[in-house]
Amino acid sequence: MEDLSLHILDIAENAMRAGGKRLVIEIIENEGDDRLTIRIEDDGRGMDAQTLKEATNPFFTTKGGKKVGLGLSLFAQAARQTGGELTIESSEGVGTEVIAVFRPSHPDMKPIGDIAETMAILIAGNPAVRFVFDHKTAESHYHFDSFESD
Ligand SMILES: Nc1ncnc2c1ncn2[C@@H]1O[C@H](COP(=O)(O)OP(=O)(O)OP(=O)(O)O)[C@@H](O)[C@H]1O
Ligand SMILES: [Mg+2]
Repeated sequence: MEDLSLHILDIAENAMRAGGKRLVIEIIENEGDDRLTIRIEDDGRGMDAQTLKEATNPFFTTKGGKKVGLGLSLFAQAARQTGGELTIESSEGVGTEVIAVFRPSHPDMKPIGDIAETMAILIAGNPAVRFVFDHKTAESHYHFDSFESD
């Protein structure tokens, strides 16, 4: 996968497959610390302890009819190859939070890609789901909520 925005699409798909009806997608850029954090939170069914343990294993999936589950493992790899990491917090019946930390100065850092297009695809394809998007940098904070009209 070329761009982080495509990974975000993948992780958001997981969230909706888990029944998530409100997704928070947050990108925090901290140039001073050489950190870029991507956080995707959902209010879906969450994972039990065993699923959580196996979630980033590429040979683990609960999707029917397939033998590999690559979304989380590839996202974790993208973070790790920059010297960052992926963490998942999940609680059954409450939801899941996936947090990936990147080191943008690393030569293996992927471009963020077209995050606006990713958001547009998610919103157009899933009108019943509420998407909250935040993009924070040292200088700016962009906030978007698909259920808020202005
Ligand atoms: N947001 C989530 N809420 C609940 N369970 C999740 C969530 N994200 C992942 N999982 C669980 O972790 C498993 C692995 O996810 P992963 O994205 O790596 O693979 P997949 O979605 O099964 O397949 P693929 O991404 O290759 O289409 C899923 O099958 C699901 O059981
Ligand atoms: Mg997936």
